[in-house]
Amino acid sequence: MADEKPLRLLVVAYEFPPSPSPQSLRWSYLTRELVALGHDVHVLAPDHPADGLGLPAIPPGLTVHRCFAGPLMGFLAARARRRRRSAGPPAEPQGQGGAAVAAEVELNWKGRLWHAGLNWKGRMFLRAQRLMEWLLFPDLRGEWKPWAKRRMQALLDEIRPDVVISSHEPATTLELGLMAARRGVRWVADLGDPVLAPYTPRRWHRRAEALEREVCARAECVLVTTDRAAALLARRHGLPADRCAVLTQGYDPAPALPPDGPQDPRFDTGRLELLYTGSFYGFRRHDALMEAVLATPGTRLNIASVKVPDDIAEVARRSPGAIRLLGFMPHLRALKAQRAVDVLVNIANDDPCQVPGKLYEYLGARKPILHLCPDPADPADAAAALLAGTGHGVACRNDARDIARVLRAWRDLKQAGGTVPFVPTPDAAAGHAWPAIAARLDAIIRARHRPEAGSERTPPPSTAPRNDKRMSMRRDAPPSGSEIASLAVIGLGYIGLPTAAMFAASGLRVYGVDISQRAVDSVNQGRAHIEEGDLDALVERGVKEGRLSAHLDPQPADAFIIAVPTPVGHDENHAPDVSYVEAAGRSLAPVLKKGDLVILESTSPVGTTGMLARVMAELRPDLAFPGGDRGPDVHLAYCPERIIPGQMLRELVDNDRIIGGMTPECAKRAAGLYQRFVKGECLLTDDRTAEMVKLTENAYRDVNIAFANELSMICDRLGIDAWDVIGFANRHPRVSILNPGPGVGGHCIAVDPWFIVASAPEQARLIRQAREVNDHKPLHVIAKVEQALAGRPDARIACLGLTYKPDVDDFRESPALQIARTLSERYPGRVLCADPFEAALPHAGLGELDLQLVPAEEAVQSADIVLLLVGHKAFRRLAPGAGKQVMDTVGLWRR
Ligand SMILES: NC(=O)c1ccc[n+]([C@@H]2O[C@H](COP(=O)([O-])OP(=O)(O)OC[C@H]3O[C@@H](n4cnc5c(N)ncnc54)[C@H](O)[C@@H]3O)[C@@H](O)[C@H]2O)c1
Repeated sequence: MADEKPLRLLVVAYEFPPSPSPQSLRWSYLTRELVALGHDVHVLAPDHPADGLGLPAIPPGLTVHRCFAGPLMGFLAARARRRRRSAGPPAEPQGQGGAAVAAEVELNWKGRLWHAGLNWKGRMFLRAQRLMEWLLFPDLRGEWKPWAKRRMQALLDEIRPDVVISSHEPATTLELGLMAARRGVRWVADLGDPVLAPYTPRRWHRRAEALEREVCARAECVLVTTDRAAALLARRHGLPADRCAVLTQGYDPAPALPPDGPQDPRFDTGRLELLYTGSFYGFRRHDALMEAVLATPGTRLNIASVKVPDDIAEVARRSPGAIRLLGFMPHLRALKAQRAVDVLVNIANDDPCQVPGKLYEYLGARKPILHLCPDPADPADAAAALLAGTGHGVACRNDARDIARVLRAWRDLKQAGGTVPFVPTPDAAAGHAWPAIAARLDAIIRARHRPEAGSERTPPPSTAPRNDKRMSMRRDAPPSGSEIASLAVIGLGYIGLPTAAMFAASGLRVYGVDISQRAVDSVNQGRAHIEEGDLDALVERGVKEGRLSAHLDPQPADAFIIAVPTPVGHDENHAPDVSYVEAAGRSLAPVLKKGDLVILESTSPVGTTGMLARVMAELRPDLAFPGGDRGPDVHLAYCPERIIPGQMLRELVDNDRIIGGMTPECAKRAAGLYQRFVKGECLLTDDRTAEMVKLTENAYRDVNIAFANELSMICDRLGIDAWDVIGFANRHPRVSILNPGPGVGGHCIAVDPWFIVASAPEQARLIRQAREVNDHKPLHVIAKVEQALAGRPDARIACLGLTYKPDVDDFRESPALQIARTLSERYPGRVLCADPFEAALPHAGLGELDLQLVPAEEAVQSADIVLLLVGHKAFRRLAPGAGKQVMDTVGLWRR
């Protein structure tokens, strides 16, 4: 469930301001936006020698933890600091006239020395750098690792982040992310490019690939910048689509541009001014552009780049009127220049699927972009597609004549007093602004952050393909249930009906089957007989379109889902009752045929799916079932349901599914069926494990609620406010106690733990005890009310809420109902009950209850004791007046 509370995030970024690299800018913007979204953001970054001039400001809410960068960079950083201290405030480098940064020793954005005129110290330094560059993985920046590791360990203890995000490059940060994951902290890895990239030195190929594999197996989510990278990771490591997200570079919609100064290049109104910002790599071919500019008088290409290839420098020297080198421009000044020229130039990478980060930056300038590429019509050219989609520019073949033709036309337009055509598609670029990208990142992080009681957790099952016991379906794997055209859902209750309606919406022909005439009639009239968000509309659509119908008997189909009740006995043994499952199996056996798939969804004691197979095998000796001697004709799987009433339709789609096949093929076929609409991950296992998983989930909840309920009873005894105690205790970073309540109800948590107790009574001591604590809580509430009544013999009681949980019309095993009924029986005429869902009582077979039902306001007004039993939204605004004794068992009026 999404948690809207701000999170504590630790971003591990080698490249972070003052480093001026593209990766540093990415995390500078993303952290700024995460802070704006309210998160408590910490960054672990090395000391860096750059001065950070012209970079976006670090926002006040962001905490940067710097640590030693390693011997070489650390030395440079210390020296730069000393120099800055003695030289006073630094001035921005001059951009005019092609002057590059003037300094004795300079670094390119990977931290490598690049300046030619070095003295002997510089040359020694360069040699040391080359040696370390060769020795360290993945490059010189690996020297940070020992210091970063120590600092990281300390930060994990100190700040206890909810999620760690590591920013690649260098790969060192991924190794730090892995370290956090091994300590049980959730980890999102921003990979950008794959670790094993075409530019990875040969000697590091194996190591890079192994690291990449481990990242894909352990990170909660891997972020890449292109679809191509996502596909590559899926191919190489089976990274499923739902653990990989494409998060491109972006642009700042409102950059804090610096005031005008002598550093700003001046642009001519009389000629067509082009600007190229960024590096020239070997995989971006620039010669055609040079040729075209030289062949088009009245145009000038401005280049803002730390270093240009020698041939460009030579042309610029010979033809300064056509090519102007602006040298290194601090980021914000470069953004300013981008907004002042006529045309922004982008040269495609050799791989057309890659979109250079600068293209996104250009979108923010709102100037026409000229994209030079091998083939403008190539559908794989992602940059061309981006321009076509946003209307921010044109793609042109990277050929001197073609480019010159475009430049001539635009130059003539400008010289005739016009402007270069620029008609952006309204709002089309907005999704590429950093706030929009950060919002996507926020959603990814929140989806991965599910708070739990302890900080340690068992890592999720690895999703790499593995043996047939437990494996994950890649979402792009061909679903082996795709041959299924029709489905019968047996049991049209809270689980069966939404499931049937979703499958109908996915295009299957669905036969709903229920022994209740009322359920069948209501579905056939296009109505849901249960209250659940948009379910009514979904049922209506399915029926209208002829894809959903309801029946009293099973109809032949390709697949069957059984979702009938599995109650427990109310005697002291609480024995599970699987007779409904058995009856459902018996009723569908006659219509089974070879190739069918049967899935049990009812929460069941371990072994029930096997029992179902045996029952059907007995009735259909002509068919082979799993567990028999022959390969099965009918496949059987157990797939528990985890949806929560009130959010069922959303959770049906989003939740991960555990799919336990009686054979691996059974599991695969069932997964194929669910993948028609399930966006969560389908995790495959065997039937008995899947049965136990469902019981475990509910027993876990029950035990934790029991702890809160027991605490509340202890506090009552000691005269302490339990809510205060829990609230204060939960401020401990590793404590997360749930809310107490009047007891535990519903068809799942109050029931399923008994299945475990019944199957292993000797071992399930804590689980049994928790059940008993929770079952005792309504009696405790009743006793408290009676205590209050002892001194006020005529007092009237308002019981607010009867359902087992807020905002659903479900009364099964409801402790609120139990309390209201007991008090009504014991104090006839003095108990007033109210529930916004009271109309559903007759349908729940509770129409005959001897309860005095009144509107909630009336109950509160006439009562002396107001007992709040369910936190329905409708009760939030009720205000019991002065003089009334309020017993809020759920803490609704405290929130
Ligand atoms: N409701 C939940 O929130 C929830 C969540 C997870 C799992 N489950 C589990 O799913 C299963 C179904 O729960 P539910 O809440 O949908 O129950 P439900 O009582 O709402 O619905 C069950 C339906 O099955 C019908 N039925 C009973 N026997 C039948 C038969 N032989 N043939 C055809 N129909 C038959 C009943 O008439 C009823 O309409 C249970 O095992 C439950 O524990 C429920």
